[in-house]
Amino acid sequence: MTAIVMDGKALAEKVRAKIAEDVAALGGLGLATVLVGDDPASHIYIELKHKAATAAGVRAVDVRMPEATSEAELLAKIDELNNDDTVDAILVQLPVPDHISEDKVIRAVAPEKDVDCFHPSNVGELALGSAVLIPATALGVMEILQEYNVPLAGAEAVVVGRSDIVGKPAAALLQQANATVTVCHSRTKDLAAHTLRADVLVVATGRPGTVTADMVKSGAVVIDVGINRTDAGVVGDVDRAVAEVAGMMTPVPGGVGPMTIACLLENAVRCARLRRNG
Ligand code: GUN
Repeated sequence: MTAIVMDGKALAEKVRAKIAEDVAALGGLGLATVLVGDDPASHIYIELKHKAATAAGVRAVDVRMPEATSEAELLAKIDELNNDDTVDAILVQLPVPDHISEDKVIRAVAPEKDVDCFHPSNVGELALGSAVLIPATALGVMEILQEYNVPLAGAEAVVVGRSDIVGKPAAALLQQANATVTVCHSRTKDLAAHTLRADVLVVATGRPGTVTADMVKSGAVVIDVGINRTDAGVVGDVDRAVAEVAGMMTPVPGGVGPMTIACLLENAVRCARLRRNG
């Protein structure tokens, strides 16, 4: 079997066209991004987010702060953006430098402007199934599954990786869609025993080769969240040979990555609506 390719790039283009309409209907919106320091990957991600935002008619406020920025200076900048009426949504690119507490930064962003959905009050809403904002990558995973009509009610869903940004919210959303969810992680004893049972397998470990063809059930739907830069180019967390076993699979690049950025903009629209309509 050769898996059907789940084309996240094409879906993201559709989603972004709809977002452009929503932004125009709102009369524009402001998204502030804050990048502290010199992490090369973070610079690439911020450029991609700005390009997509601008293309959708979103006004991007580009805040860049040097590596030596103190925690107090960054928290003061976030406070300024929280109180800026022209800013609907705020994103502080992670990781922040080691001398700054990530937890304090996440808690400093006003929950109604928290486009990443990282603030504990938004994480709590998500856990309760009453979320308005949903972390962009997890939302992107769900929108790809929906686009390809993957049945989730009663399905065995296995999530590999338990990060706050992807694994945990993806598991919560799959459960809310009535899948039976197993979460695996670095201390799981027999990973293959779990992955082989999956009808839907979501892999988000940041490690190439986490899942190989012998670990996947024939016909399973495989969502590869990994984006790893290697000597062989950009690869996911799932071996490409899995496409010979899976029924459907996201490619890397061109799968979940483009949907993360589109869903970030969906959240920016939600932030703007929240602030304007209460
Ligand atoms: N760093 C890696 N992924 C993300 C993300 O989704 N949002 C932010 N703010 N930082 C990140």
